[in-house]
Amino acid sequence: MSAVLQGKRVLSGMRPTGALHLGNYHGALRNWVELQYRYECYFFVADWHALTTGYEDTSGLPQAIREVVIDWLASGLNPGVATLFVQSYVPEHAELHLLLSMITPLSWLERVPSYKDQQLQLREKDLATYGFLGYPLLQSADILLYRPAFVPVGEDQVAHVEVTRELARRFNHLFGREPDFEQKAERAIKELGGRNVTQYRQLRRRFQESGDQAALERARALVDSNTRITVADRERLLGFLAGANVSILPEPQVLLTATPRVPGLDGRKMSKSYGNTIAMREDPDSVVRKLKAMQTDPARVRRTDPGDPDNCPVTELHHLYSDLATQQWSANGCRTAGIGCLDCKKPVIERIVEEVTGMRKRAREFEDNPELVSNLIAEGAEKAREVARATLDEVRRAMHLRA
Ligand code: TRP
Ligand code: SF4
Repeated sequence: MSAVLQGKRVLSGMRPTGALHLGNYHGALRNWVELQYRYECYFFVADWHALTTGYEDTSGLPQAIREVVIDWLASGLNPGVATLFVQSYVPEHAELHLLLSMITPLSWLERVPSYKDQQLQLREKDLATYGFLGYPLLQSADILLYRPAFVPVGEDQVAHVEVTRELARRFNHLFGREPDFEQKAERAIKELGGRNVTQYRQLRRRFQESGDQAALERARALVDSNTRITVADRERLLGFLAGANVSILPEPQVLLTATPRVPGLDGRKMSKSYGNTIAMREDPDSVVRKLKAMQTDPARVRRTDPGDPDNCPVTELHHLYSDLATQQWSANGCRTAGIGCLDCKKPVIERIVEEVTGMRKRAREFEDNPELVSNLIAEGAEKAREVARATLDEVRRAMHLRA
């Protein structure tokens, strides 16, 4: 683990759309599972976001939230390492959303591409609501509340994080200075520990008295390489060097998830709305049945016809699940009609059955014990609220809503 990465926060969320599928796993969750061991991670179920498009019948929400949380646990997210929570249990999201709404120009929201796109795509729903327009604003509150360094998301969410960054900039510009900045910076210096404390002070003085650039560089390196301090303290110490201000709401960066395209059973991208999915906790018999019937190269009609692996979604599954030798075996066998499609699918089927079996195993104790999940959700909310409260406290004071 690189020292600089320690102490940085990561935040991301998912709407509760019910049981997750292998596309969700390979597109996002697998990445989260890795991130949890490298950063201080916060992952949440965005149930309020679900209401922006599904407000007419909310009766399925509790079940959908549970399914998502259990799928997260099945994927290997570890509540002992990452903070897992549900948005609506942390009302601080709503307060920050409200406060930010005061400084959000309508045009920023109206020009987010998903606003018009979704309205066209979901034409059967009336999305001319205040809540739907505010979707990226709520997402901004979700993010800024935790002051994360990184927000791991797919391409489709980049525009939302961009709005978040603009809002953070606007907020910091309007409400500027962190209350008690200097005291906090002093406290942060002590956190550096040992000799670093005097060294930081000396280097800072040298830079501030004589503009010594080398001293500035060394002080920055000293702060950057320190693994004990929080991101907020790092920002303070860096800001304090230049005598400059510190941001109350630091601008987060997108951590673009490298998302392999997971093909669905019909060859299109795996997606709940296409009904072409394999669930993360699908029954193994059903996995086998579904994959046996999965779309192949349509031009390969008979077993004796050579096929084109580049025109077959099973090839994409091989890329995800098979080693190189197997991939080559599949492609060659396909082109020469040396193997049949069922032969070709066999190794993939085995790997996927193994994968879902592992997930089902990890999920079982939670499926059998609803109280365990409830407790976990309650504990996650407590941990998240602590961080959220600290940010809101500073935000309120910066806006003069507290003395
Ligand atoms: N809009 C995201 C999605 O549809 C979910 C989400 C809500 C989110 N708030 C967030 C993602 C904050 C990252 C950070 O996938
Ligand atoms: Fe697809 Fe494999 Fe059949 Fe070729 S042999 S068409 S790659 S399933």
